[in-house]
Amino acid sequence: MLITIINPKNNSPLNIVDGKLTDNEGNTFPVINGIPRIADIENYTDNFGVQWNKFDTTQLDRERDGLTHSNKRLFAESGWCADDLTSKNILEVGSGAGRFSKVVLECTKANLYSVDYSDAVSANYKNNGQIAPERFHLFQASIYELPFPDNSFDKVFCFGVLQHTPDFQLSIKALVDKAKPGSEIVVDFYAIKGWWTKIHAKYILRPITKKLSHKSLMTIIQKNINWMMWLFDVLQLSGFGVLTRFIPIADMRLFPKNLTITERKEWAFLDTFDMFSPEYDNPQRIIDVVKMFEKYGADVNYYGIIEYDEGSGAVVRAIKKN
Ligand SMILES: C[S@@+](CC[C@H](N)C(=O)[O-])C[C@H]1O[C@@H](n2cnc3c(N)ncnc32)[C@H](O)[C@@H]1O
Repeated sequence: MLITIINPKNNSPLNIVDGKLTDNEGNTFPVINGIPRIADIENYTDNFGVQWNKFDTTQLDRERDGLTHSNKRLFAESGWCADDLTSKNILEVGSGAGRFSKVVLECTKANLYSVDYSDAVSANYKNNGQIAPERFHLFQASIYELPFPDNSFDKVFCFGVLQHTPDFQLSIKALVDKAKPGSEIVVDFYAIKGWWTKIHAKYILRPITKKLSHKSLMTIIQKNINWMMWLFDVLQLSGFGVLTRFIPIADMRLFPKNLTITERKEWAFLDTFDMFSPEYDNPQRIIDVVKMFEKYGADVNYYGIIEYDEGSGAVVRAIKKN
């Protein structure tokens, strides 16, 4: 059954009138590039809009080249089986350029409702809009103002997003609210592993880098990426990998191993911009995230670090109470 689309400010159903989504009180939301925008077009996630439209295909799986990183991460972290998802309504929050949307649309027969607060939705639509249009419903919307009634979804997932929201707890609450009672919510996020987590070039430099214009930050990364990649590899190969945390570049050990040299550089550029540009970067202790789910009415059925392919993620899975 289709999910009703609502104005999150008054819960009134939205219908298309003259090309705009319109509620019973006459409030309207534009449809731009084929995507309803139930949010301020410009907001604190603009860096992600820039990033995902520039690197729109960089992290997409390409089966023919043996790149199946997103597929492995989605199914390993969620523990879901593709066949069980047929006709289920799945909510994805913070879809970026759509690496996981693509996996859901291609590998399952689920109906996918996907949102991102930034114009990354344009990249997602470009990448995935034609795969299964009848099963794909994409919106620009915030986790705090989702255009769906509470208790709607059979599955909810949110990967790589929560640390970039201003209030981690309220973000968890928003996800739990949208799940049906008895349904599962799965999240992954940056974890605080110990006192050393924030002793890292990222957290030392972010107060400055997040204030730079996107263009200036891109230029700085462009000018420095080659020596940073070289130094990272030298330290790693010579047994001083622990020191790579002081190089202001993304952790390249987490990239798929079968990237070409050009692809590896593109991933390094993308992930370095991704670590220095966001307004918010709030890693959490896994146990604190468990408590947040319990506070907002969900029983945690798994928490910990899940390994997949070359990567790993801090994951919490929870079932909303009946
Ligand atoms: C690091 S990206 C991850 C994207 C995608 N999940 C992936 O792993 O490729 C984080 C995404 O979260 C989105 N985001 C941040 N705050 C959000 C909010 N309040 N509501 C919805 N999406 C948000 C950003 O726009 C961005 O696309």
